[in-house]
Amino acid sequence: MSDYLLAGQAGRATELELDRLLLQSEVWEPAGRRLLEQIGADGHGRRALDVGCGALGWLRLLSSWSGDTGSVLGSDIDKALLERAAGVAERDKLLNVRLLVDDLFVSKLERHGFDLVHARLMLAPLGRAEEQLSSHLSLLAPGGLLALEEPDCRTWRFEAPAPAAERVIELLAQAFRTAGGDMDAGRRLPELLHARGLNPRVRTEVLQLAPGHPYLRMPLDMAQALRERLVAFTDPGELDVLLAEAETELAAPGRRGTTFTMVQCWARG
Ligand SMILES: C[S@@+](CC[C@H](N)C(=O)[O-])C[C@H]1O[C@@H](n2cnc3c(N)ncnc32)[C@H](O)[C@@H]1O
Repeated sequence: MSDYLLAGQAGRATELELDRLLLQSEVWEPAGRRLLEQIGADGHGRRALDVGCGALGWLRLLSSWSGDTGSVLGSDIDKALLERAAGVAERDKLLNVRLLVDDLFVSKLERHGFDLVHARLMLAPLGRAEEQLSSHLSLLAPGGLLALEEPDCRTWRFEAPAPAAERVIELLAQAFRTAGGDMDAGRRLPELLHARGLNPRVRTEVLQLAPGHPYLRMPLDMAQALRERLVAFTDPGELDVLLAEAETELAAPGRRGTTFTMVQCWARG
């Protein structure tokens, strides 16, 4: 896959993408906190890296995990996303957080320089699992922690059922596949780590979305961001009708939902 699936055409995220990623980070932040609690490692004074942190990612979590004497680096290929992350870091006084533009596939970061390496929702759009994993492992200090979080879309559903919105999710999955990605990358995480001789542990989270929750609209926002990919295999007129139906379904009073399953997998390097 030559370019990142969900960024703006010039490699800079659009406003929609910035907002979408910030919302997504906030929605999944408690699940990340629960994962760190379950791992149970003392982060004080540790060096943590969030690869592809986007507009926030795990920066807030890692900032408090590593504490005053620790350090957090958030890296991303997209400068606009890092600018948004810098705004959040300044607002929330994340004094131990630094941000750096870095392409994980040709990373300039210090080899074996981090006690914890985290990446979320990266394997799914990038579709270069083996290369990505090699990059993460090369940055991990001996005995350090690797934590990966990826989706499994089987639970991404609505109540009452919303067939048009669910069809949009299927089309998104097809767009990911066509571009070499995998919207169900979470299913393969354990075996991926196992194949590298690691001993992965796994937990999963599915979130309930109450009526009116902004994350219910995520399929529509993703479809907008991926429109060019979708019209490569869907008639544009039919796509617009489908999106309008899905919009109506998701805005219906009382409409609830469940998210995709976030598969959280971690191991010591
Ligand atoms: C779906 S977003 C996830 C963002 C963040 N990890 C989160 O969970 O909120 C994928 C992120 O990967 C970044 N990205 C894409 N290709 C990259 C690369 N080669 N190196 C580093 N980051 C990359 C994008 O800019 C984007 O921020």
